[in-house]
Amino acid sequence: MNIRIEKTSTPAQKPDQKKLGFGKYFTDHMFLMDYSPAEGWHDARIVPFGNLTLHPAATVFHYGAEVFEGMKAYRRADGQVQLFRPMENVKRLNSSAERLCLPQIDEQDALEAIMKFVEVEQDWVPSEPGTSLYLRPFLFGSDEQLGLHTIQNALFIIIASPVGSYYAAGINPVKIMIETEDVRAVKGGTGYTKCGGNYAASNRAAARAEQKGYSQVLWLDGVHRKYIEEVGAMNVMFRIGDEIVTPELSGSILPGITRKSCLDVLRKEGYKVTERKISVDELVESMKNGTLKEAWGCGTAAVVSPIGELAYGDMKYTVNNFEIGEITHHLYDTLTGIQWGNIPDTYGWTVEIPANK
Ligand code: PLP
Ligand code: COI
Repeated sequence: MNIRIEKTSTPAQKPDQKKLGFGKYFTDHMFLMDYSPAEGWHDARIVPFGNLTLHPAATVFHYGAEVFEGMKAYRRADGQVQLFRPMENVKRLNSSAERLCLPQIDEQDALEAIMKFVEVEQDWVPSEPGTSLYLRPFLFGSDEQLGLHTIQNALFIIIASPVGSYYAAGINPVKIMIETEDVRAVKGGTGYTKCGGNYAASNRAAARAEQKGYSQVLWLDGVHRKYIEEVGAMNVMFRIGDEIVTPELSGSILPGITRKSCLDVLRKEGYKVTERKISVDELVESMKNGTLKEAWGCGTAAVVSPIGELAYGDMKYTVNNFEIGEITHHLYDTLTGIQWGNIPDTYGWTVEIPANK
């Protein structure tokens, strides 16, 4: 793929790596590529970061035709920059695009775009412990008309943000509220995609949870309101007795890459792991009778995040004395170890970015 590169003449000052937060700062450039039926994907370019000009009738503003990805570039101790399972993000982007009838991108082209962009922005990959360069590829319909038609024109963009930990608390346990009113997704809908609309539909419950002092909500399935699905920006896992359980991929939850990686690690190391339906009644019972040993969420932004308290209706349950559990810690250490290059990547998950000459 031919990528035109136009460097900025006014590079920004880099923020203090100890105060990055999440998604507040942006790098000097962005990647863009246009789609039209006549030309397909064309005009791939890396240009100075800036505002977009879009027609006010552009499909994305009215009918929510947008999908995105979240991934990170990590700086290793030797200074080299690497990505974690980037092809998984590319495949999921296409799967999301297919569901929303947005044009798909050739996998190799999408990977090349991501890698070239990170190569150009590599000085922005921070080196403080726990920091990384968060990458946000997104794709949306840009047709300039209000009729409801199949999308013809689209844009693919990648922006990047140097980040610290997603939760202000770092790797400390978070409080999660089980949502009993709103639902996020149903089978047959868009739950398995990373489309903006899923997050818009989640906002009200998330706001209510935040008001009550909870980080995020734990969704129940939209039909029976009975089975555990996932957290706002994480998949979820439980250690009940000697079994590690996680909701099966039912079509309404996001097939998380961190989830998949946790399962790969646990299975390789011989843990008993089951992907199945978990009812909220089973979960509550396990908290009451003490068989719930650990609960954690997992996602790119949040990495592996211990859950210290679960609220359901009027009841509040403390998990593992609000401490980080043994398996939670092990998964955190293993994944972050591979991602930051501190332990050998025996899985072949990391992809190195060529260093600046
Ligand atoms: N579930 C939801 C709703 C998410 O937004 C995310 C974050 O991307 C995840 C799960 C975890 O997915 P991944 O591990 O691929 O980042
Ligand atoms: C990610 O983990 O990459 C996410 O997309 C979370 C985001 C909603 C903040």
